Amino acid sequence: MPRQLFVTTALPYANGNFHVGHIMEYIQADIWVRYQRMQGHAVDFVCADDTHGAPIMIAAEKAGKTPQQFVADIAAGRKPYLDGFHIGFDNWHSTDAPENHELAQQIYCDLRDRKDGSLIESKTIAQFFDPEKSMFLPDRFIKGECPKCHAKDQYGDNCEECGAVYAPTDLINPYSALSGATPVLKDSEHFFFKLSDPRCVEFLSQWTQDGKLQPEVANKVKEWFSVRTNPDGTTSDGLGDWDISRDAPYFGIEIPDAPGKYFYVWLDAPIGYLASLKNLCTQRGVDYDAYMANPALEQYHFIGKDIVTFHTLFWPATLHFSGRKTPDNIFVHGFLTVNNGEKMSKSRGTGLDPLKYLKLGMNPEWLRYYLAAKLSARNEDIDFNADDFLLRVNSDLIGKYVNIASRAAGFLTKRFGGALGEVPEDGAALLHQLRTQHEAIARLYEEREYAKALREVMLLADRVNAYVDANKPWDLAKQPGMDARLQGVCSVCIKAFRVLTCYLKPVLPELAKQVEGFLNIPALSFANVTEPLPANHVIGSYQHLMQRVTPEQLDALFEEKEAATKAEPAQAAPKTIAPSVVTASSDATAPGGEPLALTIGIDDFSRIDLRIAKIVHCDAVEGSTKLLRLTLDVGETDESGNPRMRNVFSGIASAYQPSELVGKLTVMVANLAPRKMKFGISEGMVLAASHGDDKNNPGIYVLKPWPGAQPGMRVH
Ligand code: 2FM
Ligand code: ZN
Repeated sequence: MPRQLFVTTALPYANGNFHVGHIMEYIQADIWVRYQRMQGHAVDFVCADDTHGAPIMIAAEKAGKTPQQFVADIAAGRKPYLDGFHIGFDNWHSTDAPENHELAQQIYCDLRDRKDGSLIESKTIAQFFDPEKSMFLPDRFIKGECPKCHAKDQYGDNCEECGAVYAPTDLINPYSALSGATPVLKDSEHFFFKLSDPRCVEFLSQWTQDGKLQPEVANKVKEWFSVRTNPDGTTSDGLGDWDISRDAPYFGIEIPDAPGKYFYVWLDAPIGYLASLKNLCTQRGVDYDAYMANPALEQYHFIGKDIVTFHTLFWPATLHFSGRKTPDNIFVHGFLTVNNGEKMSKSRGTGLDPLKYLKLGMNPEWLRYYLAAKLSARNEDIDFNADDFLLRVNSDLIGKYVNIASRAAGFLTKRFGGALGEVPEDGAALLHQLRTQHEAIARLYEEREYAKALREVMLLADRVNAYVDANKPWDLAKQPGMDARLQGVCSVCIKAFRVLTCYLKPVLPELAKQVEGFLNIPALSFANVTEPLPANHVIGSYQHLMQRVTPEQLDALFEEKEAATKAEPAQAAPKTIAPSVVTASSDATAPGGEPLALTIGIDDFSRIDLRIAKIVHCDAVEGSTKLLRLTLDVGETDESGNPRMRNVFSGIASAYQPSELVGKLTVMVANLAPRKMKFGISEGMVLAASHGDDKNNPGIYVLKPWPGAQPGMRVH
């Protein structure tokens, strides 16, 4: 019976480009979805940008954009990654879309208005408030001195120096990381989802322990029912109520009947799964409510191990108690480290830059294969290791699998017009062995045991290669009277190759498409692979299917940024990637060593107030080798009419002596929010040029206007 599946991956925050960890999760889910479709099941596979919350609101403000514009710009950069790695979401939506606003508000009202007693309650709590920004501060935006080890500039929830965990109120001399102001404690009404309610506890104990979750996940979740760590490091018993509201200003969804209150981002983020599906239904003219009401619908979420609480407690409880279908399972994976978690230098960024990988012409299906060859159904971490990658791709994928076709197809097309011949008996036995594995391999895909599935496929490929070695078609080709045998042996190889291609197709969809083309066969599925090809089937001429990875490509991928572009790409970059958007990090071919930023409108530019500034004083900063302290005159006066100077810290100490700068004019960003730095508050930024490759081109050049410009003049 065909199944109806609704599958998602976690919704990425819309505050940055994808890293390879995102791509790994998408590949894991995409393989599963493709496998399900090859079994004849119907799958809707969706994702969206997770757009809300204080960090994105603040990042948008820093970028001089509205949050809506900010997240739209991030969304615009998603396609090259998804197309590039052959990740076939049916829809990519946004948690700020109308569907999500509407669904989140409905779900909240359903929880609040339950006939058997509301699961929402409000409580007044005291929180740090930034009096300058007029906003409550999330823990990560409060900094101060660690109450334990007295390290300075530690976050409000824990100390990065000594590891202590504490409440923001324990910090010594706390300050707002946004404005530098001292925060004050202020009362506010918050809304809580009563997870401690016996109805929730009973439901969740059952839902999380009924055997569907991965055992390691279920065990971890069990701990949360008995012990809970409070922000101050103490522990309490049982599930705590969940604070689901935040005060304005907040980029989020308004809470019905509560002006100025917004849903905490983690309330509306998973609802974004449903919003994306609903949007897909609308595009297709399908009734969303009817779709969700189908009792046979199965719902699965692929996520990382860091967000298990949200998906195994909050999310099922939110759905169940608002009268909705709960997920059939949550599939949790571990983290991806790169080259044994080796610390990458600044210019190497996060290690494996997915766009750089594509730009170097590296085949996306190498990465899909390599990751699949390491993934299991457990949530253990996996490592991308460059040497291992080269070995697995070149020895297994190409050496064992692709070579089967290249060894056999030439003889068939050159000598027999591409026609397959009669299969000899020993070949029939081999093909039978290959076909009988199809259920076992399918089961491994179903269980997300991709590493095991690929191991099985490679063992089968070994048998086919042993058959080739034993029958030596290249010798048969030279022996008179051996035509039928040659045609038979090569036909076995091609038929075996067809079966192996089917088994690899969820992982290598583009390669499989090429193979289907060259073998002249309909799209492979798990159902049709056991059906033999018709007698006298004719294949097309062999096209080279896949290149080997070269060590140079891997060197380039992990090389310092300036060297990266020196390696010649071995293959053309995929067509879907426009060169202008591929360049995510530095690029020696780009002007000044780095690519141009996203296009902005004149309105964006006019938000930046550039002024001519006179450097009145300049001093070295004690304790810093990088900074100079500049006192700048931008033509301002204070309330009593006295000249007002700006204090600006600038990282130009490597390039200038203070005495060289005093008395000179320069250009500064005059409306940049003041920033509290270790040495004091910086009230703006002076403009200077530098090369993107700062290691080989370390110069810094402060801008200087032409004669005639006066302090305070605006730069347009
Ligand atoms: O951890 C994260 O990156 C979140 N943006 C994941 C959200 S998943 C879902 F709930 F939306
Ligand atoms: Zn500390």
